[in-house]
Amino acid sequence: MPGFELVGEEERAAVNEVFDEGGILFRHGFDAMRKKGRFRVIEFEKAFARHMEVDYALAVSSGTAALKVGLMAMGIKPGDEVITQAFTFVATVEAILDVGAVPVMVNVDDTLNMDTEEVKRRITPRTRAILPVHMLGVSPEMDEIMAIARTHGLLVLEDNCESPGATYGGRPLGTLGDVGAFSFDFGKMLTTGEGGMVVTNNPEYYNLAREYHDHGHESNPKFPRGRDTHRIPGFNYRMGELQGAIGVVQLQKLEYIVGQNRQHYARLQEGLQQIEGLRFRRVPDKCGSLCDALIFQVPSKEVADQFAERMAAAKIGTKNLPDAMEWHFAGYWDHIFTRFGMTKETLWESLLPTYERLSRSIALPVMVKYTPERVGQIVEEIVRIAGELS
Ligand SMILES: Cc1ncc(COP(=O)(O)O)c(C=O)c1O
Repeated sequence: MPGFELVGEEERAAVNEVFDEGGILFRHGFDAMRKKGRFRVIEFEKAFARHMEVDYALAVSSGTAALKVGLMAMGIKPGDEVITQAFTFVATVEAILDVGAVPVMVNVDDTLNMDTEEVKRRITPRTRAILPVHMLGVSPEMDEIMAIARTHGLLVLEDNCESPGATYGGRPLGTLGDVGAFSFDFGKMLTTGEGGMVVTNNPEYYNLAREYHDHGHESNPKFPRGRDTHRIPGFNYRMGELQGAIGVVQLQKLEYIVGQNRQHYARLQEGLQQIEGLRFRRVPDKCGSLCDALIFQVPSKEVADQFAERMAAAKIGTKNLPDAMEWHFAGYWDHIFTRFGMTKETLWESLLPTYERLSRSIALPVMVKYTPERVGQIVEEIVRIAGELS
């Protein structure tokens, strides 16, 4: 995930400007001390909303915060069930827990995202929302998820922490559901060090999100901040001005990042197609993938482990699969699911189909700064390793 690859002079200049213009690091107020009257977090929000073709964007302190603020804004309450997928980062489930809701995990299909048939089977009278996760650049079948949600009167929160710039049916991922959540942590496609964004077209969700992330402040224009009005209790998930300044600059690089990713990915895939028995993750027809990782599957977990070991020896990394499975597969999270009446064994059993897919998968990272020569070397090495292991 290459936002950090491109952190450089532009980001440094943007941060310096904040200091040159008075050094105001807080998103609100201090108007008289802002030499040019600029508010970086607000600039970032406006630019992000424009880029994602959405009415509202709210910057927050992390992707995890974006998920939690999104759930609160949608009115998810203690005891509500939220259906999400077994292949995700643990933060998705933590956000559901933090609003007191119950995470219901479904397996993934060959897109390595939410299996829509299983979603239908897991709906109960307590289900309030579906939370699909666009893992490693690719969406699930979003048309099906939206249709299920509308049929059953459920809300949809998209966890798009990993895939800003990817699309479905030509629309930016993260903007198809009721609310979308993005992350700008240091491993993500766009980075502000830590940070996140909540997006929506619903003014009430936006207002609730804005208030909740800022101690309940309504930012009522009739009152100074110290006398502001409130209607809900909140918390502090605000983004600061330095992150906002960096975010504005990083966002300007997104199109370039996606373009580079797609070129490298196409070359890698073309080169690896010659390997017999290698299967690629399915990308839904309507999905414009971010192409930040090329996931291929080998016949067994044993082969996958040996493959990854030989890739590491050849100085080719992997991206979460298989190196960080423990944090990306819910079968390992008995510290969470034993609270909901499951045992280690029943949890693992229920998610076995996901384990079988993930444990045979290798995610090859696609870096923005790859050269055609480097891509050629990677293909050569992987073809060699596949030959050795066949
Ligand atoms: C799918 C997914 N959701 C949520 C998050 C949480 O984002 P953050 O690290 O900004 O809190 C991540 C980050 O790794 C993620 O990959």
